[in-house]
Amino acid sequence: MRTHYCGTLQASHLGETVTLFGWVDRRRDHGGVIFIDLRDRTGVVQIVSDPERTPVSYPQADPLRNEYVVKVQGRVSQRPEASLNPKLPTGEVEIYADTIELLNAVRKPLPFQVSTADVEPVREDLRLRYRYLDLRRERMAHNMQIRHGVIKAMRRFLEDDEGFVEVETPVLTRSTPEGARDYLVPSRVNPGEFYALPQSPQLFKQLLMVSGLDRYYQIARCFRDEDLRADRQPEFTQLDMEMSFMDQDEILALNEALVAHIFQTVQGRDIPQPFPRLTYAEAMDRYGTDKPDTRYGLELVDVSDLVQDCGFKVFSGAVAAGGIVKVLPIPGGNEQISNVRIKPGGDLFKIAAAAGAKGLAYIRVRAEGAIDTIGAIKDNLAPDQMQELLSRTGATEGTLLLFGAGPTDIVNATLDRVRQAIAKEMDLIPADQLNLLWVTDFPMFEWNEDEQRLEALHHPFTAPHPDDMDDLGTARAVAYDLVLNGYEIGGGSLRIYQPEVQQRVFDTIGLSTAEAQDKFGFLLEAFEYGTPPHGGIAYGLDRLVMLMAGEESIRDAIAFPKTQQARCLLTQAPSSVDEAQLKELSVASTYDPEADE
Ligand code: AMO
Repeated sequence: MRTHYCGTLQASHLGETVTLFGWVDRRRDHGGVIFIDLRDRTGVVQIVSDPERTPVSYPQADPLRNEYVVKVQGRVSQRPEASLNPKLPTGEVEIYADTIELLNAVRKPLPFQVSTADVEPVREDLRLRYRYLDLRRERMAHNMQIRHGVIKAMRRFLEDDEGFVEVETPVLTRSTPEGARDYLVPSRVNPGEFYALPQSPQLFKQLLMVSGLDRYYQIARCFRDEDLRADRQPEFTQLDMEMSFMDQDEILALNEALVAHIFQTVQGRDIPQPFPRLTYAEAMDRYGTDKPDTRYGLELVDVSDLVQDCGFKVFSGAVAAGGIVKVLPIPGGNEQISNVRIKPGGDLFKIAAAAGAKGLAYIRVRAEGAIDTIGAIKDNLAPDQMQELLSRTGATEGTLLLFGAGPTDIVNATLDRVRQAIAKEMDLIPADQLNLLWVTDFPMFEWNEDEQRLEALHHPFTAPHPDDMDDLGTARAVAYDLVLNGYEIGGGSLRIYQPEVQQRVFDTIGLSTAEAQDKFGFLLEAFEYGTPPHGGIAYGLDRLVMLMAGEESIRDAIAFPKTQQARCLLTQAPSSVDEAQLKELSVASTYDPEADE
């Protein structure tokens, strides 16, 4: 019987006889004394075996190698002064092993060193291929514990303090309206028909409000077939919530308490409440993005009005075409950022170009107000315009002003990316700070250029702002995102519960009654039977855990993630299937491997 976990042993256990199970993290032979770091999920403890004090275990310790699985019985002893290890929680003690029993050896060469892998970076494909070994490593074991702690804290708060009820919703279902591609599952018993895996439990959680459940939550798996990035997975987990009879302020306050509870319980960190709020319009104006990292300044300044009539065509032309001119002022940027980097071929130019910009105009403020810039700006701005520009952007000696001019979305995307790159480079980001921020008042719709129509920005059940009902096309939505250090970790909205409003929204996005009936008829019908006002939110659990663990990839927050190519390197999914299986499903593949080459 195990008496203790390895990582829990301390001076208070001195003299006790203990039984431990674990893996050999490291084995060292010091002049006839064998030291073994024994590891389990709680940490490591040092085992000692020598021919004199522990004659039985000595020959048992000798053949052990890294990652062998053993059972150790021994006595907790004080380490000698010289070998105390204050960095290790168990660093004051060591176990003199009476017996060591080998339970299982490692039979193949290890693909990487499990114990030292934390300092020697291991290729990610190897880590994913042998994920069970990677999960033994301290880093991933720690991340899994954070994830567990976060889910536990969520459940405790929602169930015990706030009366939420967890309900599981179907995974084999119909398409849900989150805007990504669906994963489809053919139905064998209904040939020619398909289930869609849920992009979120959105429709079901709204049905649960019609059911009178009042407060629903679920740790829900969601599936979206979209292009993958470092913070996106094809299957990911949401903390999904829905509530009846609450307005936006009440929902946000409850969620602030939830998030504060999570950080407090898992990491002992205090998060001040209420969280700051920015409207979407403000966020776009000041940061060029709806998920700004507010841990540093570098705010953008719109100067469109100032330069709209100037002789520099790049500026005036952009405004005349309905676009904008914005400045990213970088205090101290003159020193740091050379012209070579801003001009074609330079790294900052490339970042801007990747966002669609044609270039980055600049002004450098030198000593005593001297201005250094491309001729076209200097020659075409009147002195008072230049003065106004400098004062509006807060430019002083040493400031570099970078300009974005063109269509609003391109200018914003460009300066957002450049702003982030420069903050990183100039070390402006306080590493340990947590900036939580609500972004509210999103627009209801955005223009889909390909389809030449408006589409719902969040989803078509999001309620329009009551003040904007006269012109739905430009209305704000009662929708909110929670942003943490520049990442969208959650998003939700109040929902439409009056059929007339729902109809107007469908009209605005050009969804015919027949199409609406076909897609969501069951929900619209349910809404006819007494629907409470309701709203909700969903958090990206993997993203939250990633940020809490200080990781940069969502894959490091998930036990068995997929690669950027949506593959599982461990199980080799997805894989081809037998012709017979396809036939049974009435499915034929049109894939032509030769055409792909
Ligand atoms: P939304 O689509 O904004 O809202 O998703 C909620 C949160 O889920 C996370 N997320 C992802 N995480 C990892 N990989 C992905 N591919 C991925 N996509 C989204 C984000 C995001 O903030 N039904 C609505 C919620 C609601 O209205 O209540 C929804 O799903 O952190």
